[in-house]
Amino acid sequence: MLWRELRLRWRTCTLRLLALCLAALLCTHFSAELKRKSLSQPGLILKVPPKEPGAEVYNRRPDEVPSRRQVIYVRRSSSNGRQGGHSGVRKRNTLQPVRWHIDLQPWAGHSHSLEEEARRFLRYITNSQITCSHLVTNGLTDHVVDTLKPWTVCLDNKFSLAHQIRSKQCRVYSLGLGEEENIFEFSMASEGCEVHRFDPSIPSAHIHEAEGLWHHRLSVDWRDPNPAIAPHRLHSNTKKLKTILNEFGHWKIDVLKADMESAEWKILENIILEGIIEQIGQLVLEIHLHWPGFEVSGNDSSVVRYWYSLFKELEQKDFKLFYTYKDLSKPQLFLKKDVFNASSCYILSWVNTRWT
Ligand SMILES: *[C@@H]1O[C@H](CO)[C@@H](O)[C@H](O)[C@H]1NC(C)=O
Ligand SMILES: *[C@@H]1O[C@H](CO)[C@@H](O)[C@H](O)[C@H]1NC(C)=O
Repeated sequence: MLWRELRLRWRTCTLRLLALCLAALLCTHFSAELKRKSLSQPGLILKVPPKEPGAEVYNRRPDEVPSRRQVIYVRRSSSNGRQGGHSGVRKRNTLQPVRWHIDLQPWAGHSHSLEEEARRFLRYITNSQITCSHLVTNGLTDHVVDTLKPWTVCLDNKFSLAHQIRSKQCRVYSLGLGEEENIFEFSMASEGCEVHRFDPSIPSAHIHEAEGLWHHRLSVDWRDPNPAIAPHRLHSNTKKLKTILNEFGHWKIDVLKADMESAEWKILENIILEGIIEQIGQLVLEIHLHWPGFEVSGNDSSVVRYWYSLFKELEQKDFKLFYTYKDLSKPQLFLKKDVFNASSCYILSWVNTRWT
């Protein structure tokens, strides 16, 4: 009897001691963790694994869904260094404050009239700011005027794209909404680029269409879907560009081509506000002017001022317009009006001159 009691007491004692030890251990661990966190800068930046950049998705089977596991977060070492191997891609300062609005430019004139705003805006989109000595349109250097939209990139040796193609480190993102032609994508893939086409209308989640050409059933938007809506109830998979880059473990996009049927304004605003624009080498955009665009509001002069301000934000990031095309096959309407000799549709190409 006594023996059993003694044994029971001994056991409870040991258990208590063990619990105490565990508690002490946890305490020291947490306090050490806290100290470490408070000492180090909160700047966590995204970095692609150092092996062959650009190969991550390229070598993946089409049925493999890219996951967060392929993304490595590293602690920031020194300030704005350049990432080894990549061209002039600068590490983004993750400590920069979150921006909620773009900076609106001053009005074009005192009367805030549509005429003044439109003249300034149209002057901007019809004059290139930099000369590109090697324009390539849908894979061709000589400008054949045909029925294709002239998606144009600059392979001038001054800029990184030419070098990235030569060293097989070129990545193209193409955002669309079920468009038919894909000559541009095929030509960039045959140049040796890794091309990712985002299109919500394709039948399966990921399709490896050709050497270097991937299709993803994803629609790029200016916000992530409402988490309250169950994913299976969403008809298409909609994500912000920042989210896609994180999930794919991609650091940079050499060419971003977008034909978003009037969603381009909010998408452009989103990638500017989230700093993603600095991870893009060339931007090839179709813009639509027959109406303000999705979720763009205000009177006509405010809308045009907003469009103009978005392009001035690009200019501040050292993006220079090198190609501009007025589409005469589309209705010649500007905010539903037949004015200013404007078209409802232009294709514009910019190069990020920080990438050399
Ligand atoms: C449009 O709205 C802005 C303010 O939102 C105002 O300052 C401007 O005068 C208006 N323009 C016209 C032409 O009504
Ligand atoms: C209108 O635009 C077309 C094409 O850009 C141009 O050829 C024409 O000269 C312009 N007309 C006027 C009146 O500015």
